[in-house]
Amino acid sequence: MQERTGTIFETLFEEEVHQGLTDFPKHLSSKYFYDARGDKLFQDIMNLPEYYLTNSEFEILDNYKDKIAQWFSSGKGKFSLIELGAGDGKKTKILLKHLVSENVSFTYKPIDISQNALDQLEKSLHEELPDLHIEPRQGTYFETLADIHSDNGARKVILFLGSNIGNLLHPQAVDFLKSIQDLMNGDDLFFVGFDQKKNPQTVLDAYNDKTGITEAFNKNILARINRELKADFDLEKFLHWEVYDPETGTAKSYLVSKEQQSVCIEKLDLKVDFRPWETIHTEISQKYDDEVVQWLAKKAGLQIVTQFSDQGNLYKDYLFKKELS
Ligand code: TRP
Repeated sequence: MQERTGTIFETLFEEEVHQGLTDFPKHLSSKYFYDARGDKLFQDIMNLPEYYLTNSEFEILDNYKDKIAQWFSSGKGKFSLIELGAGDGKKTKILLKHLVSENVSFTYKPIDISQNALDQLEKSLHEELPDLHIEPRQGTYFETLADIHSDNGARKVILFLGSNIGNLLHPQAVDFLKSIQDLMNGDDLFFVGFDQKKNPQTVLDAYNDKTGITEAFNKNILARINRELKADFDLEKFLHWEVYDPETGTAKSYLVSKEQQSVCIEKLDLKVDFRPWETIHTEISQKYDDEVVQWLAKKAGLQIVTQFSDQGNLYKDYLFKKELS
């Protein structure tokens, strides 16, 4: 909480919205997509035929569940399976079911920014896998690192699926991987999904579907500001816009103001002016290749143990361990 020209921010959401919309160029953090409505829209995205990421990773986990489970359970005794950004757990359930059926002894610790997503996940797991031991925790990736740290008893296997790493630019991704690496012991494992560079059109289509679900998802951040901070964004007056740079592999999502307009955010005591075609940057979805992943891993003190790919080579999961120094 911080005081600023008389404005007291009650939440980090308020503070970051204020900061992002008074900055130049304007931006909003993608972590605020995920309220109950955003969770639902993102589930719809994951079911879109264009959004190949989910199907590709599903295919990998299903094809290699046996091998992956062997890696995970290769140490002594019980381990903690910690998942960052668990969401609806649709993909993870393939592994969970397989591990449970093999009588592997572990505790599943899903972490997510959305309490709503965690509640639904816990409920569905109680029904589908009543014997599974689960300890959910709400928070951002960074907040929950401390928790992972205090959990120094059991061996850790950390899951980071869905190419969520791609929501960070390389320098932040290195910092993030490093902070995970820091918490790892020699026999811990880190399993991470990295969406791969591919035909640029395939990427653009995945982030700009014809049915408008992605548009609604991106605009939900404005709708959320309307709901929670008493603002008057007119969603019709913004465009969802996606760009992809095949050289850097960076996909970026924007909201573009179609006209000159002013928006009032009552709870922040703030009037935000938009020039015609002014942008709000909302998301980065980085795409990778083996070289870049190698480079990131090396910078973070991690070593690639093995990797798994889908048939179409659209997407890869890499298994890392701490590099021995
Ligand atoms: N983290 C997801 C991704 O980068 C979220 C996402 C999917 C997204 N489609 C989007 C974010 C469109 C903004 C706009 O793939």
